[in-house]
Amino acid sequence: MMLERLNAIKTEALEKLALVKDEAALRTWENTYLGRKSEFNSLLKGVKELPDEERKQVGAQSNALKQALYAALEAARGALADSGRDWEVERIDVTLPGQGHMTGHLHPITQIEHEIEDIFTSMGFGIADGPEVESEWFNFDALNFPPDHPARDMQDAFWLEKQWGKKKYLPRTHTSSVQVRYMQTHTPPFQIIIPGRIFRNEATDASHEHTFHQFECLVVGDKVSVANFKHLAETFFTAFFDKKIEVRLRPSFFPFTEPSFEFDVNCLLCNGVGCPVCKGTGWLEIGGAGMVHQNVFESAGYKRNEYQGFAWGFGLTRLAMMKYKITDIRLLMSGDLRFTQQF
Ligand code: DAH
Repeated sequence: MMLERLNAIKTEALEKLALVKDEAALRTWENTYLGRKSEFNSLLKGVKELPDEERKQVGAQSNALKQALYAALEAARGALADSGRDWEVERIDVTLPGQGHMTGHLHPITQIEHEIEDIFTSMGFGIADGPEVESEWFNFDALNFPPDHPARDMQDAFWLEKQWGKKKYLPRTHTSSVQVRYMQTHTPPFQIIIPGRIFRNEATDASHEHTFHQFECLVVGDKVSVANFKHLAETFFTAFFDKKIEVRLRPSFFPFTEPSFEFDVNCLLCNGVGCPVCKGTGWLEIGGAGMVHQNVFESAGYKRNEYQGFAWGFGLTRLAMMKYKITDIRLLMSGDLRFTQQF
């Protein structure tokens, strides 16, 4: 009698479930057939009153029914969720190639800076730093640029509009501005490099940029000579370009060095034979150098003629261009990922 009733409930429930069309109806169905107040539930409560034999049978049967109804409920719920989906739109083409993830990396200029720092620190050099907005004094006066001297125009400067009393400030035009800053707080002997960003009021083209990177070297002690400079420079460039490089000095003028030189390295393309890049000379102009002027030591607070030292400076940007054979300097600061991703 009870078993028959259970079977009837099952048949009825499944028939009704087939008619369910939405979530609300599904909930009503669940309440009606499986809920606390369902007939099925009240039947179950009567099971324990039955004689042993019948109780076993009915118990097993009602468990099976319960499982069947729940399974049917889940299937109906899944079918409801799937209806209304456009399988054509959702179709996934598993043969499409996967999407790679972009990972960031250091800018080529930063990579070159780190390479240079590694070479110099391995030779016992320290790395110094200074502000990018600098006083006129550190950028020019302290480096023995006389007031109104044409040498100030060698480097076209941007100037800050605001002045503090008589003090004028500018985005530094060279990393040499850090020389006296460093010397004011350090006593020789020392050997440092100063990589950094500099600014020039310059019309831009493939080889000129208003913002670029330089790199300064300063070695001060008792008996520092031009020969030391030449050897250091050759050692550095040989390590940097990974081939034997010679350095050539030519007389020049800088207010902060005496004597002053411009220095060249063997042309990397033709190895000194002569080609269009080196205009047939076999040499490439790299930067400026010289023995630190005693007036500069005085600016730093050192006693005149107590120390000797050499300084050199050149475009780190130019070095990066030479190493990577970049033909337009403007690419470096363009922020164009198609360019930077190549490094
Ligand atoms: N500061 C110079 C420039 O930007 C380069 C330079 C020349 C640096 C001679 C030096 C030096 O340290 O000794 O044009």
